[in-house]
Amino acid sequence: MTEAILLVGGKGTRLRPLTVNTPKPMVPAAGVPFLTHQLARARAAGVEHIVLATSYLAEVFEPYFGDGSALGLHIEYVTEEEPLGTGGAIRNVAARLHSGPDEPVLIFNGDILTGLDIRALVATHETTGADVCLHLTRVEDPRAYGLVPTDATGRVTAFLEKPQTPEEIVTDQINAGAYVFRRSVIDTIPAGRPVSVERETFPDLLATGAHLQGMVDSTYWLDLGTPQAFVRGSADLVLGRAPSPAVPGRCGDRLVLPTARVAPDAKLTGGTVVGDGAHIGEGARITGSTILSGAVVEPGAVITDSLIGARAHIGERTVLSGAVIGDGAVVGPDNELREGVRVWCDAKIPAGALRFSSDQ
Ligand code: GDD
Ligand code: MG
Repeated sequence: MTEAILLVGGKGTRLRPLTVNTPKPMVPAAGVPFLTHQLARARAAGVEHIVLATSYLAEVFEPYFGDGSALGLHIEYVTEEEPLGTGGAIRNVAARLHSGPDEPVLIFNGDILTGLDIRALVATHETTGADVCLHLTRVEDPRAYGLVPTDATGRVTAFLEKPQTPEEIVTDQINAGAYVFRRSVIDTIPAGRPVSVERETFPDLLATGAHLQGMVDSTYWLDLGTPQAFVRGSADLVLGRAPSPAVPGRCGDRLVLPTARVAPDAKLTGGTVVGDGAHIGEGARITGSTILSGAVVEPGAVITDSLIGARAHIGERTVLSGAVIGDGAVVGPDNELREGVRVWCDAKIPAGALRFSSDQ
């Protein structure tokens, strides 16, 4: 297998309001655009040619990744005029593939951070003679995903996207968003209209007796669909829990990019990333958080599991936990913002305006 399709389009992402000009795949995770990790992992597994299927803000990918040669890849870009859905996007780039009809093509969702053994997925595809081989993982609450029950041999028996009722929750195995397709199967997807690979292609293939094979494992896996997940993923990359050849520098408690300035007594732990040109003041304590480029954290601020947008400003002694601060936002000194709070891009919160702790 030498070719892959990477899906990075769709209706947009829940991160976009924060990073208005940056689609999620380009938001830095562990110091580089998130997509870099997926591209580098595919390259390390032997992929040489990648077609990026996108439908929004496509122009941000090509200036950064170009022809892919910096990563040892040949990357092509295909932009849908209207989002074609996951299946439509795959079908739409079929003409760019060079593989023969029986050769395997790797396809993956662009918002997944995983330790998947890509070569093992291809090997499973080949040894079982499947039409499509799917990477599966187990999660506690499968409702936000595609449920994929399998039989004793790992053969897929059904595909239930986003199950609605308790009766539909027949397994904890879900579609982990990476597939190997036999090249010729891609041509059976209808062209020129939106198609969901999850709601249409997989159920149709099963109904016509096609062989879909699941490969379940317990490797690192995270869907970066929410800012909180994004921060978690970035920290796990830095900590080395999520393996990626693209992390710039050695894995450890923190990653400080070269042009960032960190006061000597600031404490950075738990996979915290400090982006280019960011400034961390004296005595600040930051755990498991991502500080994007040019952001300023004033002395004494305490930040946990939070995303601080580019050029945002966090005032002295402010406490943030599970917070998402938009690009350019200003949180004045002596505020306390906790789990789930979202501060819009460029918003300004005055000094001592908000707190969560009780009066006791
Ligand atoms: N080019 C293109 N065009 N890409 C698309 C389109 C489209 O119209 N729609 C979605 N995508 C891309 C997204 O950018 C993302 O990388 C991937 O396809 C999956 O879309 P999401 O919108 O993130 O879907 P999801 O997270 O709700 O569910 C999918 O992922 C789960 C695992 O995280 C499904 O594949 C589930 O079955 C799966 O369990
Ligand atoms: Mg997703």
